[in-house]
Amino acid sequence: MLSLSGRHCIITGGSRGIGLAIAHRFASEGASITLVGRDQTTLDNAVKELPIPLHQGTPPNHGACAFNVKDSSRWSDMVTFMRDAERKVDVLVNAAGISQNSFMFKTSLHQAKEIVDVNLMGTMYGCQLLLPTMMRQKSGKVNRMFDSFITNNKATPGCIINISSLLATHAGRGAAAYAASKAGVVSLTRALAWEAGRFGIRANVILPGYIETDMTKSMSDDDLKALIPMGRLGKVAEVADAAAFLAKNPYAHNTVLNLDGGLSAT
Ligand SMILES: NC(=O)c1ccc[n+]([C@@H]2O[C@H](COP(=O)([O-])OP(=O)(O)OC[C@H]3O[C@@H](n4cnc5c(N)ncnc54)[C@H](OP(=O)(O)O)[C@@H]3O)[C@@H](O)[C@H]2O)c1
Repeated sequence: MLSLSGRHCIITGGSRGIGLAIAHRFASEGASITLVGRDQTTLDNAVKELPIPLHQGTPPNHGACAFNVKDSSRWSDMVTFMRDAERKVDVLVNAAGISQNSFMFKTSLHQAKEIVDVNLMGTMYGCQLLLPTMMRQKSGKVNRMFDSFITNNKATPGCIINISSLLATHAGRGAAAYAASKAGVVSLTRALAWEAGRFGIRANVILPGYIETDMTKSMSDDDLKALIPMGRLGKVAEVADAAAFLAKNPYAHNTVLNLDGGLSAT
């Protein structure tokens, strides 16, 4: 198994919920974390709470970068920031997302576009713009001609973990744009697994069911629990555990991981 100790992880949606839980889990295993969300103060407070176990004698170097993931130019700034700060990108977790609770015919085009922009395009920009950094780390150089890419087998391979949703593959009411955006995230991850795998970079996607976070706070628990074979919503730590497995298992590649208490079986 690979170790997270000494590795650097960028986690979008890191200010709370699933992203923050993944950050805590990775940091507790010695990773240093850069959190991404829209509010710098919230992120700075979240960073202060991250565990700082020692690895190789130095404490992990946690940080935060506030921007809207739907803004591709801010992703480019992030790449420059990581390069200038000489920070590696070993693991990229795309967990930033917004939900929807309205039927398609009642959803404005602006609202539908916003959901796709944040959930799908935000994930795509992160993958597209950080992949060259991850490839360079692995190879020492990025050649425009993929076929002449030189692999440095001693480097630790990079890993992308995208957070999709059960709704990417299963129908749900009032979430058409959300479901479409999350289906896109699954397809994007699979395509990247084929393309980036050749460069030693793994790409995996988690499809959570209903998890206890701000996103599901307004949902009727009893109605929902009755539908879920495990009889309860999932916990953020359980999603973080799945993310840790994907980050550390060197053969986990193109994994499409349902984590829904059995809801996808119904
Ligand atoms: N909870 C569930 O049941 C569930 C189920 C399936 C999939 N998911 C997916 O899991 C991911 C995390 O969800 P969650 O439940 O943890 O939600 P959450 O508690 O509402 O957290 C959402 C996170 O995304 C960030 N975010 C939202 N829009 C952003 C933007 N435009 N730019 C940058 N950051 C943005 C938020 O940060 P700020 O608001 O501070 O900017 C926050 O950190 C999402 O992709 C969601 O679709 C959740």
